[in-house]
Amino acid sequence: MLRVAIDGPGGAGKSTIAKLIADMFSLDYVDTGAMYRAIALKVSRAGLDADDEEALKQLTSSTKLDFDGSRILLDGEDVSDLIRTPEVSMWASKVSQRACVRKLVSDLSSHMAQTKSLVMDGRDIGTNVIKDAEVKVFLSASSIVRAKRRYDQLIQAGKEADLDSIREQIEERDEQDINRDLNPLTQAEDAVYLDTSDMTIDEVVEFISDLINDAEVK
Ligand code: DC
Repeated sequence: MLRVAIDGPGGAGKSTIAKLIADMFSLDYVDTGAMYRAIALKVSRAGLDADDEEALKQLTSSTKLDFDGSRILLDGEDVSDLIRTPEVSMWASKVSQRACVRKLVSDLSSHMAQTKSLVMDGRDIGTNVIKDAEVKVFLSASSIVRAKRRYDQLIQAGKEADLDSIREQIEERDEQDINRDLNPLTQAEDAVYLDTSDMTIDEVVEFISDLINDAEVK
């Protein structure tokens, strides 16, 4: 089994890197953030308060999450595109603080990691979901670099963007993800820390593929 756990703050490039690594080593890729985002979408559609644990318990007990390749299905509906908005990002960061939401996603994620080799990214993969992952990486970058990357993506896609407000949102989300009580964003003791601020995508991929090759030799 080869389980590669990639954790780090929002906008550090985890999903881009994780997908490339998964392709390179013919592994499945699981984006755990997409599951929190899908639940957040359901919570906001239902008009619920993200702090109302009882209401969230009811909602999560009747929620079905599935992956169809790289698409995520929420109760059978493909919501892959709908979950990539700034609003859903903030909601996901909020609902992911709640115990019932974390349990649903953690249980599903650990189940997937028990049965197959994969690359999984998120905030608590190395510290909680796959504590015994063969390779653990903590990817980071300064908030200004992460905001600039996001800004460039939006501009390239022909959308309007404001660098300062993107940076503020990124920092607010970091604050919430790092300071929550349950499985906060933190580097696992045995994870390799990588600051990607001054690295190209190819350099990051090369660094992680070297770690994987070393782990496979052992
Ligand atoms: O990786 P992302 O930006 O799609 O994640 C959205 C939110 O979900 C993030 O702000 C915190 C939460 N999350 C989490 O708490 N644990 C994970 N393993 C993945 C995401």
